[in-house]
Order: sequence, then structure tokens, then C-alpha cells
Amino acid sequence: MTGTSKVALAFSGGLDTTVCVPLLEEEYDYDEVIGVTVDVGQPAEEFDEAEETAEALDLDHYVVDAKDEFAQQCLDAVKANATYQGYPLGTALARPVIAEAILEVAEEEGCEGIAHGCTGKGNDQLRFEAVWRDSDLEVIAPVRELGLTREWEMEYAAEKDLPVEGGNEGDWSIDTNLWSRSVEGADLEDPGYVPPEDIYEWTETPSGDIETIEITFEEGTPVAIDGEEMPAVQLIEYLNDLAGGHGVGRSDLMEDRMLGLKVRENYEHPAATTLLNAHAALEELVLTKEERDFKTQVDDQWAQKAYEGLLSAPLVDALDGFVDTTQEKVTGTVTVKFEGGQARAVGRESEYAVYSESAASFNTESVDGIAQEDATGVAKYHGFQSRLANKVTAEAEAKKAELLTDGSGDDESAEEQ
Ligand code: ARG
Repeated sequence: MTGTSKVALAFSGGLDTTVCVPLLEEEYDYDEVIGVTVDVGQPAEEFDEAEETAEALDLDHYVVDAKDEFAQQCLDAVKANATYQGYPLGTALARPVIAEAILEVAEEEGCEGIAHGCTGKGNDQLRFEAVWRDSDLEVIAPVRELGLTREWEMEYAAEKDLPVEGGNEGDWSIDTNLWSRSVEGADLEDPGYVPPEDIYEWTETPSGDIETIEITFEEGTPVAIDGEEMPAVQLIEYLNDLAGGHGVGRSDLMEDRMLGLKVRENYEHPAATTLLNAHAALEELVLTKEERDFKTQVDDQWAQKAYEGLLSAPLVDALDGFVDTTQEKVTGTVTVKFEGGQARAVGRESEYAVYSESAASFNTESVDGIAQEDATGVAKYHGFQSRLANKVTAEAEAKKAELLTDGSGDDESAEEQ
């Protein structure tokens, strides 16, 4: 390498990314490391920690604000009712946004390499690299490539006098952004271990309080709460606060990672749960049965690609075509009730409602010239094929049984001959 060779590192100030800084110089021969922290709605303390650690390391540190873009991505996920095994995909949706932002800085700064501190066991390495391997930069994963363990990292940090002893990591491994807060590791790795209340930071233990709000959607996107319009970031933050106060959006799941490992995950996602429930309730009202049935398959594929960090796949463009067409009708208002840790849709209205009160009501005689008696013909036919199939089978079996009884005598005579 000629001149000053630079590498951009996805930097959080935690143990993994902190040890990566000297390792990129020592083991990968880079002259200079740039740390990049991307804001997707982490709590302020995380930026303070990153800033302090970067300073102590004398690291050139960039903070990129990608909150708006990430919030938009989350609301796009709502259009596709996106969850993976019950998880609203906060970390998964954030990684490509973070990866793009870091790549942009790396290219602007003339870096030759780009690095992350992910281990070789998780999903995030795959999501980062899916973005980065589309560039000409050398992709480096020191923790994975050097086979680092936490104990080794702690020892190395002590030896090198790296700024990690500030207790910047508690008992759990936590990943927070606007859409979800994930808690994993330590005792939680045991699927049988019952999590203590203190793993939760966004959600209160559900109390007896009840509250009702109205969420307005325009073409599948939530735009206002109780009539007050809010931009995406603000709307999500507002709901995290409000629904979190009601204990909404906790999940404790066994998650199948991309590499095949099954892991125990705990999440909090009050805004996501509220918006996903409200959106689904509106779709129930405005989409036809066929659209709803088919959309569950489209949504499932969308969520799968989101989990993989591959929303850039051509398949997703095609899925988006279907999703966007259906969302043209997903305009209206949903009433959501927070009660007992749940966010339940308890009312919905839309000018696109595929609903005729007079047609569905028990009290009306005829609608559009169709009267109750007209269903008689339908009722006569309903189940016709099943009845016929069952009858034919029963007859065939009876015939077989009859032949067997007759045949036993024949057999004897056959032996005698
Ligand atoms: N399992 C989730 C995912 O792959 C989230 C992992 C978050 N990481 C953490 N250290 N808590 O999307």
C-alpha cells in the first residue's frame, strides 16, 4: 500500500469495536482508522460513550444522522406487516442503513478498507457485508477473522490500556434503535431462564391503566396520532413512549438465525407493535379476501429478505410493486386501545372499506336485488364435491370389503385344487 492507508470502522465504543482499532493497524497494516457511528435512534448515552472512547483512542470519529431514512424504512416495513418469527426486525432493518452510511464516509475519506466488529456467529456480519461487498473496498471483520473471544479482548484491552474499563458494557448485549431494543447474552442465553424485569427499559410492567388513541394512515403509512400530524421519527418516538408506558411490545422468542443457530432473544418494540396491529386492522377492512390471502405470502417473503438484510434483492422490488398497489387503499383511521400490555385495534374506518353494513346486517331484507332466499341455491351446492367424494370412497370400500368376504371361500377352494 502506498501513502496513508485508511480503513473505516463501524464504531460503537463497545469492547469489540474498541479492540478493532489497534488491531486494524497491527494485524491489517492500516496507517489510520476512522470510526463511524451511525445514528438510527440509539439513546444519547451510546453516542457519549462512542465519543469518549474515540477521544481516548485518539480516533478520528464521525457521527452520521440516518434517523429519518431509518424511520422511513421502518414505516415501509409496516406496509408489509413485517415481522420475522414475531420480531419486528429493528436490528435487521437498521444494518443496511448503517452499512450504507459508513460506506459513504469511507469512500469520501478515500479509505481502502471497511471493517466491522461483528462475530462470526450472528446475522449482522452478513447484513453489513452484503452492502459493502458491492464496493471495491477491502472488507475486514477482525473479531471473526482473528477468532477473538471476549476474554482475549478484555486481556488485550488491559495490556494495551484501551478505554474499556468504564463499565461500558453491562450484563447483557443490547442493540437499540428507533424500532426495537434487543437484549441478549449471559443468563438470557438459557432458553429456560426467566428474564428479570430489569432487562426492560422501554416498557413498564403493564398496569390496570387503559388508554385509547386514533392512528391515521395514508396509503399504508401512519401520518397522524389523534389528528396531529407527525413526521416519521417523531411518530415512532411518541408511540414508543406512550405504548411503552402501557407495557406494550415485549417479546421473548427463540429465533432462527441465518446461519442456522437457534438463539433466545428478548425484544421491546412498543411503537412497532402498535403500528403493525393498527395497520393490519385497516388492511382487514379495505382489502378483499384474495388480496389479504395473497398478501400474507408477499409479506412473509418481504420479512424474510428484511431479516437477511437483502431488501436490495430484485425480488423485493417485485414484492414492493404488489405491496404499494394494495396500500393505495390503506387510508383511514384506526382506534387502538392500550390495555393489559396489549395494543388492540378496537375500531377502524376508511372510505375504501369493502364493507356494506346493509349487506352484512341481519336486519335487512334485500340488498342490490339479492334476497336471503337467494342463498338457498348456494347452500345446496356448498360442500357438494366433498359429499360426492366421501360417498364414492365409502361405496368403493364397501365393494372391497364384500369382495374380501366372498374371496375367503374362493381361496380355500383354490388351495384344495
Ligand atoms: N437477533 C437480532 C437480529 O439478528 C438482533 C440482534 C441484536 N444484537 C444484540 N447484541 N442484542 O436481527
